[in-house]
Amino acid sequence: MIIINFKDYQESTGENAVILARIYAEVVAESGAKVAIAVHPTDLRVVSAEVGDSMMVLSQTGDSYTRGSDGSPKGTQTGRMTPRAVAQAGGKGILVNHAENPRTDEEIRVIVEDFKTETSESLVVVCAESVERAESIVKICESEKPDFIAIEPPDMIGGDISVTTKPEIIEDSVEKIGDNVLVGAGVKTGDDVSKALELGAKGVLLASGVIKPKDGKTPAEALSELTKAL
Ligand code: G3P
Repeated sequence: MIIINFKDYQESTGENAVILARIYAEVVAESGAKVAIAVHPTDLRVVSAEVGDSMMVLSQTGDSYTRGSDGSPKGTQTGRMTPRAVAQAGGKGILVNHAENPRTDEEIRVIVEDFKTETSESLVVVCAESVERAESIVKICESEKPDFIAIEPPDMIGGDISVTTKPEIIEDSVEKIGDNVLVGAGVKTGDDVSKALELGAKGVLLASGVIKPKDGKTPAEALSELTKAL
């Protein structure tokens, strides 16, 4: 699986989010590859309406319901990307605890619980900055589990060196977390995807490699190369 994080790049927010999503949807239609996109919450409705039939469209963030004094979710919520709000916007899941929007373990536990309880078909991807953090998240999410744990070393995010150049991180993650590991940071080429899969990951999470590709590649060409490696 390939998950593309649109972040808040100029190239992938607002009207550009729709344009880029259409480009990726064409690649997906040609390749049949399993690709999901995680868009800024402000773009979720419009992008879902445009390409939601071809690709899973996720929100880049999700929130739990605030709790009343008895611990149960309160009826009304303000300004939160709750399971209800994400579903109403056409979103099919969330990315949470990205290094650029970190959460505590307890916050993650209730977010996962609320999404998996209310919208069990939602794809819930929890990011972790290290294998140790991933273990801690898995432990606290013992009742409702994320679908994927995405390991992204923060110092490699947005860089030119792929996480796959550190095979020990991927092997260690797969050994300790299991068969639901994605890896990300610096992923750019088909070889990076192949390497991640060879090492036991189920796929990759990436951004700049397909949103702002280098070497004269277009976003479509960059994604197409990655899908071939799947
Ligand atoms: O969520 C994906 C992201 O953090 C990785 O960014 O640009 O290194 O692919 P990038």
